[in-house]
Amino acid sequence: MDPAEIIARLDDLGRQFEARLEALDQEQAIRACQAAYLGGKGEVTALRKLIKQVEPAARKTVGQAFNQVKERITHATGVALQRLKESEERAYLEQPVDLTLPGRQPRGIGRLHPISIVMHDIVDIFVSMGFDVASGPEIETDYYNFAALNFPADHPARDMQDTLFIKEGKTLLRTHTSPVQIRTLLKRPLPVQIVAPGAVYRRDDDPTHSPMFFQIEGLLVDEGVTFAHLRGTLETFIHKVFGKDVTLRFRPSFFPFTEPSAEVDIQCISCKGSGCRLCSHTGWLEILGSGMVDPNVLEEVGIDSERYTGFAFGLGVDRVAMLRYEGIGTIKLFYENDPRFLGCFRS
Ligand code: PHE
Repeated sequence: MDPAEIIARLDDLGRQFEARLEALDQEQAIRACQAAYLGGKGEVTALRKLIKQVEPAARKTVGQAFNQVKERITHATGVALQRLKESEERAYLEQPVDLTLPGRQPRGIGRLHPISIVMHDIVDIFVSMGFDVASGPEIETDYYNFAALNFPADHPARDMQDTLFIKEGKTLLRTHTSPVQIRTLLKRPLPVQIVAPGAVYRRDDDPTHSPMFFQIEGLLVDEGVTFAHLRGTLETFIHKVFGKDVTLRFRPSFFPFTEPSAEVDIQCISCKGSGCRLCSHTGWLEILGSGMVDPNVLEEVGIDSERYTGFAFGLGVDRVAMLRYEGIGTIKLFYENDPRFLGCFRS
């Protein structure tokens, strides 16, 4: 094979490539064109096979010619791509700008989460009735969350199915705010009158249950406390939150740490008791659990249950928030942190 012929063909390919490049104004096309010459199946690559047929003495010169054309094509490609980028930038900068358009609104400063708003409002109501605010840890021991609250050893809430354990049977994420009752009674002198707001955790996850939600615990222990005090306190509270015309009812219930126990329902604020989807056609909405502190609980923390009595209640903040902001179909919205949702509430 004549080395001069190969060199001449390489030179042709270089010129041909530059000519084709002229017509291209898309990055993809430029890169494809380069590949058509230098790629595995490219024209220059195909010529390379002929080098074996060249007499050994001339191979070096032919090899250099290959390198030159390769460099020539690579260089031309680089120049074309650079020119393309510059012209795109120029076109972008030359776009007409309407200086009369309004600017983008900043999202503004942060605001309170709807759950926090409702929680603060509820705590304020109890503070106005003489309650103090207490708190406890979210990581609890079995003792404060269950044992001291008179839960029997085989109670279903102590099951792995219902409780998020950190160490089985020992440490857990509190399933309610009631352990704060125990912590407070062990710490403070009587009389005790507290509310304890905070996050609680359960193995629940569906449209009406979130694995983390918020409760407010209430506890009052003193001499001469009766069920009438419980009733009066909760009635006052519910009238302040939902309005004076809201009817409530106490329904007998059971909690290991209260005796007697009652669940409190309010007449459905949406249908006023005639039955609708919100109240599952019962006319009533469950708001909280309550009862007289079980003597076993008082004795557990060293309080004379012959002399002292008390009441306690536990209220679902999410529940109240769902009712207060009617139309929120799922509790999940409270925990997704979508600014379009959170921006709808006063701060
Ligand atoms: N801790 C109970 C619950 O989470 C509610 C409750 C609190 C009931 C205090 C009675 C007294 O369901």
